[in-house]
Amino acid sequence: MTIWAPSLEFDSRSARYRQIASAIGDAIDQGQLAAGDRLPPQRALADALGVTVGTITRAYSEAQQRGWVSSRVGSGTYVNDAAAGNSPFDVHVAADSDGVVDMSLSFAPPHPWRHQCLQQALAEVTEDPACLAMVAAYQPDIGTRQHREALSRWLEDLGFPLHEVLAITQGGQHGIDLCLRALTRPGDSVAADALTYPGFNAATRHAHLKPMAVPLDDDGMDIDALARLCQRQVPRLVYLTPDQNNPTSAVLSPQRREQLAALARRHDFWLIEDAVQYLPREDRGVSLLELAPERTLQVFSTSKVLSGGLRVGTLQMPATLRERIGSLLRAQSWMCPPLMTEVARRWIASPRYPELLAWQTAELAARQRLARASFEALTPRHLTHGANFWLPLPEGRRASEVQALLKSEGVLVATPEPFCTGSEPAPQAIRLCVGAPDSRESLQQALATVRRVLEQGDTSPWATL
Ligand SMILES: Cc1ncc(COP(=O)(O)O)c(C=O)c1O
Repeated sequence: MTIWAPSLEFDSRSARYRQIASAIGDAIDQGQLAAGDRLPPQRALADALGVTVGTITRAYSEAQQRGWVSSRVGSGTYVNDAAAGNSPFDVHVAADSDGVVDMSLSFAPPHPWRHQCLQQALAEVTEDPACLAMVAAYQPDIGTRQHREALSRWLEDLGFPLHEVLAITQGGQHGIDLCLRALTRPGDSVAADALTYPGFNAATRHAHLKPMAVPLDDDGMDIDALARLCQRQVPRLVYLTPDQNNPTSAVLSPQRREQLAALARRHDFWLIEDAVQYLPREDRGVSLLELAPERTLQVFSTSKVLSGGLRVGTLQMPATLRERIGSLLRAQSWMCPPLMTEVARRWIASPRYPELLAWQTAELAARQRLARASFEALTPRHLTHGANFWLPLPEGRRASEVQALLKSEGVLVATPEPFCTGSEPAPQAIRLCVGAPDSRESLQQALATVRRVLEQGDTSPWATL
């Protein structure tokens, strides 16, 4: 039991209940609130903060939607145990288990070759004494030359531009965190799309950074709006996924890419280009690495191409940052495990890898077509090869209500709250991953369930007075 009470100075630019909800999230991240702790009674917190009880009710409800707390009837509101299944970051190991189709997390489509490639790579490593010696030894902070060259060739084959230095990371999330830690100090502002990858939001909170939400539309980040924000506060960096916003799948237009590069030069901020959600070359625009190489870092990983558990990623950067990133890597874990990079290297070199990638690209295109055929709200403009799609809900429907109804029907989807940058309001939409289901049949059944739930209207029981 705790008597946690935040000391909050309200910012007039955002609703108070959202600021209180964010303070709850921060307190959990910083260990001031632990799993099982009870939040203060609503009246007491309202008096302490000088707001109405209604504001606290909304704040607790927002924190609940974000998966941080749960309310127990007649008892109060308690902090969730992230390890017990309430966190949006819970890992769902099997996609279609116990009749549940989990489309809430972003996966590459399953294929038996993934395990076979992994098995083959592991077997090769164990049978090669020189390789065993190499993976068992300490190696340079940013990775061995052989590994970095192999990953550079891989990126080149995938059609990505190369930069001056490539460091090996433990996946894309690690790459993002390294960028934040290398380029910012606590209290700095960092900008991102108003809806963005939740791992970026989590990393900014842990690094005590101030998020700046930039509006976005079908052409990606609104660079004019970013320019206006810069009049008030220039961010240290702008993070974005230009080829496929996660969750909305918006693509940054060619004109806005040019505009962004020019704005970054004018105000001298860094650009973090996240390409982890893999798309084939023909679906990608010109990389920010090409438009503003002196100030761009690019994050990529094997997660959506080979498999998420390998934890092997790349961080490309200008040479001026090599020492800073190397020093952070040494401080964190000396280096990323060379064994995992060696496994990834051998997997990529195997003859099955190009076939698997070609299969994945065609499979995701077929699955996206099924999604478009199911929902009128999705037009051909939406991505053809991406793993996710974003479904705006019909007028009057709430994402949390639709998510709960779908869950009771065995279909898991993501609600928008974890994607909201800072205290941005959440739109009523859901994100679904077409890559996650075991098969197209399973996907089709899940899509039919989503359609039915949306067509039948709100049937959630009325249980609040
Ligand atoms: C846009 C984006 N960036 C980064 C990541 C994290 O990648 P990794 O699993 O390699 O850490 C993800 C994972 O879904 C993502 O969607």
